[in-house]
Amino acid sequence: MTTWTPDSMPGLSGRSAVVTGANSGIGLPTALELARHGAHVVVAARDPAKGAEAVRRIRRAAPDARVELGQLDLADLASVRSFAAGVREVDLLVNNAGVGLTPKGLTKDGFETQFGTNHLGHFALTGLLLPLLAARPGARVVTVTSDAHAAGRIDFDDLGLERGYGRMAAYARSKLANLLFALELQRRADRAGVDLKSVATHPGTTATNIVKVGPLQPLVRLLLKAPAAGAVPSLYAATSPDVRGGEYFGPKARLLRPARAAQSEELAARLWEVSAELTGVRFEQLTGR
Ligand SMILES: NC(=O)c1ccc[n+]([C@@H]2O[C@H](COP(=O)([O-])OP(=O)(O)OC[C@H]3O[C@@H](n4cnc5c(N)ncnc54)[C@H](OP(=O)(O)O)[C@@H]3O)[C@@H](O)[C@H]2O)c1
Repeated sequence: MTTWTPDSMPGLSGRSAVVTGANSGIGLPTALELARHGAHVVVAARDPAKGAEAVRRIRRAAPDARVELGQLDLADLASVRSFAAGVREVDLLVNNAGVGLTPKGLTKDGFETQFGTNHLGHFALTGLLLPLLAARPGARVVTVTSDAHAAGRIDFDDLGLERGYGRMAAYARSKLANLLFALELQRRADRAGVDLKSVATHPGTTATNIVKVGPLQPLVRLLLKAPAAGAVPSLYAATSPDVRGGEYFGPKARLLRPARAAQSEELAARLWEVSAELTGVRFEQLTGR
């Protein structure tokens, strides 16, 4: 099998995309390739200056790109609501942003930082954009998780990780939540008859800001793959006609199998209900309410 590259992407003229964390790392080449192929792209960034620089870089690389900046802080539900209210149409939502291995902390709304940012922020964003996504034929939601999800564990009695905080354990938990969410979104969309593909991706270890490798950083980075390669699974998931909802793709767009915990429909359903309760976002179109 030949390796898939973004050159195989279909034309995306008339399609609108939102990419979270598009100012940096894997998100920037994801946004660039979507724009280069004709999509209107919203670069969703928490820092407006970094976001504006990313928009400039995309326009330099693809002068015809239709790209605009949106301010989005996933660690603040008011910001998620205000960002979503400003989106006019969306066919492709790429839930890419993330924090990793952060010290113990809380989001603006009091959730553990990595769970709150990586999972709850994207859960809320997706739910708030669902009416727009559901109005577009062939809409897709791509959620970037990690193979680190396999080490994740969710204790609903200790979502604040008060009984012991580990940076890696908190990251793995947030990435397990990302994957459970992506798979549950597909099941709920199917049950509700909503035309939507929800697809998960693992970029593979990529030289970006999230990868903390200590004093040997510059050296180790040379050994890791470039962000453009890390963007391949997301671009494939967002655009390939061969993709089916509920699939999970890794490096070189290879199909991966989620770890056992991520396949648990019971865990996914419970996480969904708890996330809806914590964020106040209820995905009415999927529940009939
Ligand atoms: N790199 C890897 O090896 C690897 C492996 C597996 C999975 N992943 C996943 O890939 C995704 C992209 O990460 P990356 O590797 O490209 O790292 P990155 O360069 O650090 O990019 C992360 C992006 O998320 C944004 N972000 C962080 N907190 C945010 C918040 N509260 N609100 C909005 N945006 C926020 C960052 O904004 P700032 O620039 O303002 O910080 C940045 O744009 C993440 O979901 C990560 O878990 C990466």
